[in-house]
Amino acid sequence: MNLITSIKHFFIIPYLKLVKDKEQKLFIGQNSQFEMIKEMKKRKIDNVLVVTDKTIMSLNLAGFLLKTLSANNINYVIYDEVECDPSIETVEKGFDKYKENNCASILAIGGGSVIDCAKVIGARVSDPNRSIYKMKRLIGGIRKQTPPFMAIPTTSGTGSENTLYALITNKETKQKYPMFSNKYIPQIVALDPYLTVNLPLNITAYTGMDALTHAIEAYVSTYSKFFKKDKNEGLEAIKLIFDNLEKVYKEPTNIKYRENMAIASYKAGLSFRKISIGYVHAIAHRMGEFYHLPHGLAIAVILPYVLEYMLDKAYNSLSEIALYCKLGNENEDKKELALKFINKVKELNKTLKIPEHIKEIKESDYPILIKRILREGSLCGNPRLMSKKDCKEMLDRIKGVSNEK
Ligand SMILES: [Fe+2]
Repeated sequence: MNLITSIKHFFIIPYLKLVKDKEQKLFIGQNSQFEMIKEMKKRKIDNVLVVTDKTIMSLNLAGFLLKTLSANNINYVIYDEVECDPSIETVEKGFDKYKENNCASILAIGGGSVIDCAKVIGARVSDPNRSIYKMKRLIGGIRKQTPPFMAIPTTSGTGSENTLYALITNKETKQKYPMFSNKYIPQIVALDPYLTVNLPLNITAYTGMDALTHAIEAYVSTYSKFFKKDKNEGLEAIKLIFDNLEKVYKEPTNIKYRENMAIASYKAGLSFRKISIGYVHAIAHRMGEFYHLPHGLAIAVILPYVLEYMLDKAYNSLSEIALYCKLGNENEDKKELALKFINKVKELNKTLKIPEHIKEIKESDYPILIKRILREGSLCGNPRLMSKKDCKEMLDRIKGVSNEK
């Protein structure tokens, strides 16, 4: 372990250990939305701000929810203006709508952007004099518990329903603010596999690869040994994804595969909420900021390159994953097992028709990309630390400029 890693462990691990796990009521399966509403009635939750987006509304994915809320005499108002990568302005508009309608609770139905936006609307409600600029501090940014907060994810990937993170974009600076808190974690969650049945195939693939990456980055992180339970959730998530993502891509209406992917995404969320993610995300966030690439697509392309870069430092962890996923046996060399795992990821990408490169990357953007990647990556427990030169070479490989390792 080098000096920088030791210093990070000294400061960050005790802080993460102090962040308490919040109790969350989880319902899984086709009756989960109904069970959630029953639970809301039991807790006397009313006057709900339903946070969602236009696509969810146009596909009528919130139809059952809204009908059942009405049937149970729970008042609601809809805020459906959340965009992909929600901005500070979108959070503020949602906060205004909450106040104008005297809401007393929040229910997010949608993908990661919707749930992230709802988290921060909740944070603004509970601490109205604190601006988003102050909330973006990773330590102590968000100080107060949100009002009652429920979430129904409609994709299986982000794990936002249980993670401590929320990403809000500053449109002016093109920067994504990662927020971190246990105060805005939804108190009731429903994982309804029927909501994901009609997801387009590419979104199914991207979100599935995003969940896989959360679990892998958490597992190989130098922080993971301090959070064994979370680490094991990640291991289970990786196996579930290997066992179900390809199948669901080929048979998208199979409810069992969809449910397994929802559970995998949830478990992957548990695995990285404290351990954190790594360079795959640090690079992918820049691809969203600069080239508006879908998060999961960027993640899927970048993952094999970062794993290859990490190989010499992470082969122990990667070989453990390979063994758990039955990609080899204990008599095999650990590096060989790790390579088998990386090859499995590459094969999966091929099956899911993920491109090998991100051609959109502009070399003229390298200086700012490298600066932001290294800044975000420096907070994570990456097993191998990148220099500026490493980062430039990594961008070259992802762009497809050079195939040399
Ligand atoms: Fe992600």
